[in-house]
Amino acid sequence: MERAKRIEIAKKVLDLVAKDEPEYGEESWETDIGRFIDKDRFELEKQKLFLELPQLIALSADIENNGDYYATDIAGKPILLVRGQDGKARAFLNACRHRGVQLAQGCGKAKRFTCPYHAWTYATDGKLIALPNREAFEPDQLRGLVELPCIEKSGMLLVHPQPDGHLDFDEFFGPMASYLEDFDIESYALLHEHRELANINWKHAVDGGLEAYHAPILHKDTFGTGGLSQLLHIPFGDHHALIAPLEEIVTLRDIPEEDWPHHCYFSSTNSVFPNTVIGGGEPGLPVLFFQRSEPADKPGESNYVFRLYGKKNPNEEQKAIQKAGVELFLKVAIGEDMPTQVSCQKMMEAGAVPTVVFGKREINLTRMHKAYDAMIGHKAEDAVAAAHGNPVRVAAE
Ligand code: FES
Ligand SMILES: [Fe+2]
Repeated sequence: MERAKRIEIAKKVLDLVAKDEPEYGEESWETDIGRFIDKDRFELEKQKLFLELPQLIALSADIENNGDYYATDIAGKPILLVRGQDGKARAFLNACRHRGVQLAQGCGKAKRFTCPYHAWTYATDGKLIALPNREAFEPDQLRGLVELPCIEKSGMLLVHPQPDGHLDFDEFFGPMASYLEDFDIESYALLHEHRELANINWKHAVDGGLEAYHAPILHKDTFGTGGLSQLLHIPFGDHHALIAPLEEIVTLRDIPEEDWPHHCYFSSTNSVFPNTVIGGGEPGLPVLFFQRSEPADKPGESNYVFRLYGKKNPNEEQKAIQKAGVELFLKVAIGEDMPTQVSCQKMMEAGAVPTVVFGKREINLTRMHKAYDAMIGHKAEDAVAAAHGNPVRVAAE
């Protein structure tokens, strides 16, 4: 990110601090709960928001060295990411071309992938290199893995889930490309991975990264109740950044602008459309996190991935700090956020709330959900009116 952008953000924060008020959006948005529980909407989202669009599926650090692989998915479509012996990152559909068995699970290191069913064997560049009884097949039936468009840039892996899908890094990220560059994501290495089949709609996990209105309450025992409340919500097209200033930001008032440190004392949690959240890291936090929640088999189920990274080549002292950072983030995300999101989902499925409200301090939530709705052609106002059983009254208010 250009220094000018950082300075602009820091100045906005200082303005709000001087006024002693948080940033408020223009509207408090009441919206339907169908977005979390409706089966038809869920299927439409899988298609329109995931399977037809590029996805920020992983970081370079997830397949750091040649031969490293990482099996994950995009809305139920199994994806195998591999760094070939040539150092190139590739994405494949994770399925054998003989009769479709999944080739690799989890993550690890491999020189080749051998199918557990009949031993068709593929190189790390996806080529079929060996199989028993080769003569039992016609030559043109012996195919390599289906490769997907994949771009590696600025420490991130962008993949299109369709083999013929259009993929352009700068087009996808827009102005957020240079913003994310500033995080120096390439300088981090994987420290820890958490995966689970979570009983939440995939959007609950994204929502947790879009607002920090909840932070001093839900995370009072982990992040604590301190910190400035002057959070900023910055849109980059359909992607969003949530700026959290450190208390030290107020010291900038006493320093000439040209001497402000590059980080300007704020961190940023970045939500990349539709479901990836990258946050933490410098300044202030020793660990970077990458979160993806994929729609699984039903609206209230998601394949949840939470990965944590620290700066490469730490000394002993930095290692201990990174370890403590990992423990803290796991407590926050898995120990505090997840059970709360499961509770949201459970109450919605039980019909305990007819609608929900995103307030003026949950600005990014409203923006992101409106973008989802626009992409699938959903009219939230109509659904809210129907939920209240009185369209005329609601429309008039
Ligand atoms: S299904 Fe993979 S070798 Fe037969
Ligand atoms: Fe949280």
